[in-house]
Amino acid sequence: MAGSGVFGEIIDGDVFKYYADGEWKKSSSGKAVSIINPTTRKTQYKVQACTQEEVNKVMETAKAAQKSWAKTPLWKRAELLHKAAAILKEHKAPIAEALIKEIAKPAKDAVTEVVRSGDLVSYCAEEGVRILGQGTFLVSDSFPGNERTKYCLTSKIPLGVVLAIPPFNYPVNLAVSKIAPALIAGNSLVLKPPTQGAVACLHMVHCFHLAGFPKGLISCITGKGSEIGDFLTMHPGVNCISFTGGDTGIAISKKAGMIPLQMELGGKDACIVLEDADLDLVAANIIKGGFSYSGQRCTAVKVVLVMESVADTLVEKVKSKVAKLTVGPPEDDCDITPVVSESSANFIEGLVMDAKQKGATFCQEYKREGNLIWPLLLDHVRPDMRIAWEEPFGPVLPVIRIGSVEEGIHHCNASNFGLQGCVFTKDINKAMLISDAMESGTIQINSAPARGPDHFPFQGIKDSGIGSQGITNSINMMTKVKSTVINLPSPSYTMG
Ligand code: G3H
Repeated sequence: MAGSGVFGEIIDGDVFKYYADGEWKKSSSGKAVSIINPTTRKTQYKVQACTQEEVNKVMETAKAAQKSWAKTPLWKRAELLHKAAAILKEHKAPIAEALIKEIAKPAKDAVTEVVRSGDLVSYCAEEGVRILGQGTFLVSDSFPGNERTKYCLTSKIPLGVVLAIPPFNYPVNLAVSKIAPALIAGNSLVLKPPTQGAVACLHMVHCFHLAGFPKGLISCITGKGSEIGDFLTMHPGVNCISFTGGDTGIAISKKAGMIPLQMELGGKDACIVLEDADLDLVAANIIKGGFSYSGQRCTAVKVVLVMESVADTLVEKVKSKVAKLTVGPPEDDCDITPVVSESSANFIEGLVMDAKQKGATFCQEYKREGNLIWPLLLDHVRPDMRIAWEEPFGPVLPVIRIGSVEEGIHHCNASNFGLQGCVFTKDINKAMLISDAMESGTIQINSAPARGPDHFPFQGIKDSGIGSQGITNSINMMTKVKSTVINLPSPSYTMG
């Protein structure tokens, strides 16, 4: 059970503590933030409402701890990360339980998220010792006009304090995808979890605590965005922000100072289907890509752009698979579970009603109970409907019929987003040309969009983000280059 066994020390009464200076603490605010279970719509957990003063203290200790951590041998840093990964996997059950209760993640997916996170931490430790164990060596005479009198040695050094802000949909995995690269690179880490997902994050952080990381190196501060959100992101002690979430990221990037930013924001991932595509493969990928975790993934298929000549067949195939999706509570490992909040459900409903009013064809009856929305495929969607452009983050998927591939590419590129996209065709030459033409960070050929495997580069363009993630890119992003130049005497100098 969450907050019991080895996790007993992270809770006080019914309020989870925050983590600072190597200890679990109660906030001096005396206030708590409630976490609503999306399924029951009742308070499930409570976390500390930390104050700005507590943020200041965390930043101070993070800064001090980073100095000695940066001097800790790389292999020792890697060893601790491997230990944390093992502890995380050992305690997958209570962490998964928190994911089920806080964000209604289906039971099996919740366990998968924790295991994937452990693997990510281990891989990051391995990758870190390889890429940070190397530097470059340059000589001056390769640049015009120079003699061979300067040798330049470069290495990668940490940035300082990294602020990690993961989203509700992968609170553990997208937290460790920031924590592990930051730590292996010699940074300290301040984590601000999403409110829904905070308890899973606190459990994950305790696994790092149990692994024995130095005091103050990792902190986890919970609370209201209105009280500590801007204060954290604009804090002068922060040297790098890695954020995953929605529009807030755009606001953060405008307010943050002159520090490196890694932002993964929304997406309207398009799925372009050509006439020669294997329609069974497409239908299977639309189901997996569009409806897994009830469509609450930034990489979910969010609009299908299918050639008119095969649209009827494809829609029938997808329709019959939608009918087989199970709908219900996450504890029963249903395919479709309640969306994260009432406001999210209301937003999705707004998109659906707009499409209905403007004449979209509903392939299923629209049904909602509380935050639970039954899966819905909307055919004959047109560009004047909001759902053609906006990101529902729910189990509703629009299909736009296209007369040409160019029309599909045009729709994809007219979006403000550019995270991922996919194209289905048996003609690899066409697939490559379409991939080149689609303005998105990644294009999948004959598969639904996905971030993983976690060492692959992952990036959005336009409003979908800044920078590139994936283990290697994140380690590099959380470092800066340091050069030392050895100046030698002029060539006329003689050794004799
Ligand atoms: O929601 C955003 C995640 O980065 C998507 O990750 O493709 O593994 O589901 P995923």
